[in-house]
Order: sequence, then structure tokens, then C-alpha cells
Amino acid sequence: MNKAARYEDLLREIRGLIAGVKDPLANYANTVAAIYHTFPDINWAGFYFFKDGKLVLGPFQGRPACVFISAGKGVCGTASETKTTLVVEDVLDFPGHIACDARSRSEIVVPLMHNSKVSAVLDIDSPVKSYFDRTDKKYLEAIVSLLEMTLP
Ligand code: SME
Repeated sequence: MNKAARYEDLLREIRGLIAGVKDPLANYANTVAAIYHTFPDINWAGFYFFKDGKLVLGPFQGRPACVFISAGKGVCGTASETKTTLVVEDVLDFPGHIACDARSRSEIVVPLMHNSKVSAVLDIDSPVKSYFDRTDKKYLEAIVSLLEMTLP
């Protein structure tokens, strides 16, 4: 099955998981679990929440990770400041990349907006260089949009 087909299945799965669930934390937790278990070449998938001027670790799958990320720091802080999805082909080439798991080689970070502000970022890491592409960006942004629509 190609990546797009896997994402189509994943979108259906996530729609089902979050249908009728009003608790955002439960929806974020199930979403990262579904993503993590869909792609064998992912070693970490999780959320960081923007709280009191910094990013704080939320629900995730993978090895334990950094708890706090300062505003504007790392891939997550940069994506949250620029309010845009960042695709990093090689984390070793990203100035200021924060290495929570030494196995990570590539990364994608998608901001999640609430009331026109970044309220969280979805961060996914892969041990494979250049793993993430336009397909991941398109579908992960669609997944984040689904979650944004569940927020009050
Ligand atoms: N690499 C991220 C930090 C979070 S971990 O990948 C889970 C960054 O540079 O912001």
C-alpha cells in the first residue's frame, strides 16, 4: 500500500476515533497512537502544547522526550512561531534542532490553531533521512484540521 492510501485509511480511522468525543486530550492521544502504528518508519509522534510562552510535552508515542521547548527553539518552536508546517529532511542540517531521540533523522511539525493562535504542534520523527514529503504534509495538515474542528 502506498503512503497516500495508508493516509486515506488513517483519516477514516481518526474520524471514527474522534467522532462524538468532546475531550481534546483524548482525541490528541488517540490520533498520535493511530499515526504511530500506521507507519513503521516513524520513531516518535506526539503533541506539544503552547502554555505560558513555551511548548510543553503532551500525549505521544515513542521514547520519553524533552518536556519543555522554549518559544522559537528547535523545529517545534520554529513551526509554532511561523505558524507553518516544517518538513526537515535531515535534522542534522537544521540549526537548533533539539535531539530528544538520537535515532531521529527527519522530522515534520504541523501547527494546530485555535482562535487564530497556535495552541499546539504535532511533531513526528523518523529514523529515515528525507522520510517526510508533500504527501505527509497534506495529510497531516488534514488530520490537524479535523482536530481543530473539534475544539470549542
Ligand atoms: N526535535 C524537536 C524536539 C521534539 S522531539 O523530536 C520529540 C525539535 O527540534 O523541536
